[in-house]
Amino acid sequence: MAKKPIGPVRRDFAPWDDPQARPYIEFRNVTKTFGDFIAVDDLSLKIYEREFFALLGGSGCGKTTMMRMLAGFETPNAGEIFLDGQNLAGVPPYKRPVNMMFQSYALFPHMSVEANVAFGLKQEGMPKAEIGERVEEMLKLVKLQDFARRKPHQLSGGQRQRVALARSLAKKPKVLLLDEPLGALDRKLREETQFELTDLQYELGMTFLIVTHDQEEAMTMADRIAVMDKGRIVQIATPAEIYELPNSRFVADFIGDINLMECKLTAREGDVSSLHAPVFGCDIKISQAVDANIGDTVWFAIRPEKVRISFEEPESRVNALKGEVWDIAYLGDVSIYHTHIANEETVRATVANRSRVVERPMSWDDEVWLSWDADAGVVLTR
Ligand SMILES: Nc1ncnc2c1ncn2[C@@H]1O[C@H](COP(=O)(O)OP(=O)(O)OP(=O)(O)O)[C@@H](O)[C@H]1O
Ligand SMILES: [Mg+2]
Repeated sequence: MAKKPIGPVRRDFAPWDDPQARPYIEFRNVTKTFGDFIAVDDLSLKIYEREFFALLGGSGCGKTTMMRMLAGFETPNAGEIFLDGQNLAGVPPYKRPVNMMFQSYALFPHMSVEANVAFGLKQEGMPKAEIGERVEEMLKLVKLQDFARRKPHQLSGGQRQRVALARSLAKKPKVLLLDEPLGALDRKLREETQFELTDLQYELGMTFLIVTHDQEEAMTMADRIAVMDKGRIVQIATPAEIYELPNSRFVADFIGDINLMECKLTAREGDVSSLHAPVFGCDIKISQAVDANIGDTVWFAIRPEKVRISFEEPESRVNALKGEVWDIAYLGDVSIYHTHIANEETVRATVANRSRVVERPMSWDDEVWLSWDADAGVVLTR
């Protein structure tokens, strides 16, 4: 059966769906411990050539450690890492076609921008004329060609970060590891640089592994995202799949905002499942086959933008809830309505502010109905 696509897709690039495709980077059951602390826990992962792969996860979940093992700065306690079919065990960092831009990138303060970018190439013994050309090319790529003679302290934080980026790109490594590469940029420059980076990656045909704390950044840039928790990968999927079909409460809660309701599974008929949420006093019917038994505890998860809020009572009491508005967050483009349901539980509904004037505006303490479609939410079993 053909897989139904979720959200926007880059149709010509999905090697992970191709059983014939050979992974370019592969972690096989890799574990890394520091003393008796397990930083990376039996982790297996496949990344494909030219893929833009993002690692998301809370602080200390093992993202940097994973990258450092791939770059050769840490040795796994167990498991193997392959690159282009080669087992990397025993291969020193400088012999790996991998470059890493560190979380706390450090430019050489006494060197000019161009000398910083040229540094690695000189060490490699590249001829002088070639170095000059490459540095020029790289500075052009990050739009800093006019800043070549400046010293790092004469640059803004964002410009410095772009120098670090140019430096890590200069050797044109097959694989670039970027650990929080845009952390120092303001929102606007961050967005611009995100686009520059994706263009660059595409032009140079490189494979990117990027760590970010910013889930929007991961969503806009990556082909696939891995969500990590405590040294393990919880889910690997495209941004749209991660958002629309999280595989657990952890992922659902980690990415974006979501309403979670504890339920009992009450019926299963083919691709339709029925749930009851006792605390919310609500019956839910969803077009999803659920892998659980009748009577099992499951969770219904629905994004606030998929919840309708209205004064009008819906025709059916299934997939509907009565509530009271107790808080409204006006964000300009959208408003988020926090509604109290019986038992003081809350459900959030996001409404796009389509027009400035509304016939009957919703206000605090208003009684409202919340409802949703049978395919709007997702049932989680863990
Ligand atoms: N050299 C080390 N010695 C001991 N513990 C370490 C060492 N390096 C990392 N750790 C621990 O391993 C865990 C994972 O660290 P890592 O740097 O990979 O986290 P991270 O996911 O990159 O976090 P952040 O988002 O904060 O950068 C942390 O708990 C950290 O304290
Ligand atoms: Mg880190």
